[in-house]
Amino acid sequence: MMMMSTRRIVSSARTAVPAIRQQARAMSSPTDPEPNTEASLKFIHREDTYGAHNYHPLPVVLARGSGVFVWDVDGKRYYDFLSAYSAVNQGHCHPKIVKALIDQAENMTLTSRAFYNNKLGEFEQFMTQLFGYDKFLPMNTGVEAWETGVKLARRWGYDVKGIPENQAKVVFAENNFHGRTLAAISASTDPESYGGFGPFMPGFIKVPFGDLKALEEAVKDPTVAAYKCEPIQGEAGVIVPDEGYLREAQRICHENNCLFMADEVQTGCARTGKLLACDYEEVKPDVVVLGKALSGGVLPVSGVLANDEVMLTIKPGQHGSTFGGNPLSCAVGMAAMKVLVEENLAENANRMGKILRDRLTALDSPLITTVRGKGLLNAIVIKPHKGKTAWDVCMKLRDNGLLAKPTHDDIIRFAPPLVINKDQIEECADIIANTIKAFE
Ligand SMILES: Cc1ncc(COP(=O)(O)O)c(C=O)c1O
Repeated sequence: MMMMSTRRIVSSARTAVPAIRQQARAMSSPTDPEPNTEASLKFIHREDTYGAHNYHPLPVVLARGSGVFVWDVDGKRYYDFLSAYSAVNQGHCHPKIVKALIDQAENMTLTSRAFYNNKLGEFEQFMTQLFGYDKFLPMNTGVEAWETGVKLARRWGYDVKGIPENQAKVVFAENNFHGRTLAAISASTDPESYGGFGPFMPGFIKVPFGDLKALEEAVKDPTVAAYKCEPIQGEAGVIVPDEGYLREAQRICHENNCLFMADEVQTGCARTGKLLACDYEEVKPDVVVLGKALSGGVLPVSGVLANDEVMLTIKPGQHGSTFGGNPLSCAVGMAAMKVLVEENLAENANRMGKILRDRLTALDSPLITTVRGKGLLNAIVIKPHKGKTAWDVCMKLRDNGLLAKPTHDDIIRFAPPLVINKDQIEECADIIANTIKAFE
C-alpha cells in the first residue's frame, strides 16, 4: 500500500490551494466574496482528496462548538442553524452530557450484549417511563432504529396478525427520509437516494404523505402489517401534514389491524416544540423511533419504543448490535434526555419557533415563497431571483455569521439548538432579514 508522509500531505495541500481557490471562484458567482480562507481551504482539500465524495458540504471548516455557536478554524463564530440535522438539540457540548460521557468513559465503555451491564436497565427504565411504553430497544444510528421498527412490523405481522410467511408488507409515505441503508432507500421515492442501488426490498408500498384515502386503500390489503411515517417530513423540506392527519392515519391503521409507526428521529426530542411531534395530536404510535438528539449529538444513540405485544415478538438472537445499549451510550442518552426535560427545551422550542416564523413571514420578500414549520424545525422556500439560489443565500448567511444548508435546491431549513434564547433568535432573524434583503 502506498503511504504518504505527513509533510508531503501538507505540502501537497499547500500547492493545491491556488487551484482550489480558482475552482471555488469558478463555482461561485463573480460578485461573491472569497469563498474561504487559506487555512480552511487546506482542510477542504484534504477531505476532498482522501474522503469519499458522498456529501456536498457548505465551505466552512468547524473546529469548536458551544451552545448555539460554532467556530471555524480561523476563530470566526457562527450561529448553528442546522444543529447537525437536529442532533444537537441540547446545544453543542452541553456540560452535563459531556460530564456523563467522561465519567462513564473512565469506568466502562462497551460490554456487548453478551453480558449484562449496570447502565442499560436504568436507561431502558428511564426511556419507557418518560415516553409511556413497555419496552425500549437501543441501537446506534437513526437508520438502524428505523430498520428495527420495520423488522418489528414484519414480526408482528406474522406472529400476531397472522400474515402468511414472507408476504408481509409495510406502507411508507412518499418523499420520506429514513436513512441510507438498502432497506431505507427501498422505502424512498427520491431518485437521488435510491438511483443506481437496486435491486430493492420487496413488500414496501408508498402512498402520498397526507393522503388518508390512499392510506386506507393500502392498509385494506390483509398482508399489510404497518404504516410508518415521519410526523413532519424533515429532509423533504419540513412538510407539515394537515392538522388531524396523524390521528386519522392511526385510526385507519387500527381499524384495519395494522400498526401505526412514527419515525421521530428528526422530529422527536423536543425539536418541534413537544417531546414528540405526535404529541400535538395526542397520538401514541404503536412504535416510535428515536435517534439524533437522543445523545445530544455526542454519540450515535438511537432506539425503538413499543409495547410488549410488538417488542416481544423478537426473541433472543434474532436482532441486535455490538454497540447497541453500550454503557457509554446509556449514560450519555440518559443525560441528554434529562437536559431536554430539566431545561424545558420543548417549551422553549415552541416559543422561539413562533418568534422566528413571525419574523420570517413578515419579511414579505420576492425571494421567499413559503415559511413553514413547527417549534424550531422550520424552512423557507426560495424562488430563484436574479440567478441566485438557496445555495447562494446559505453562502451569504455563512458570511454574515449563520450556518444553514439547502435541502432539495430551493429549501433552507432553520433548526438551531433548542437552547437558543430570545435575544439570540431575534439577532438571527435580523441576520436572515438583512441577508435576504441584499438579494432583492
Ligand atoms: C426522519 C429520519 N429518520 C432516519 C434518519 C437516519 O438517521 P441516521 O443518519 O442517524 O442513520 C434521519 C436522518 O436524517 C431522519 O431525518
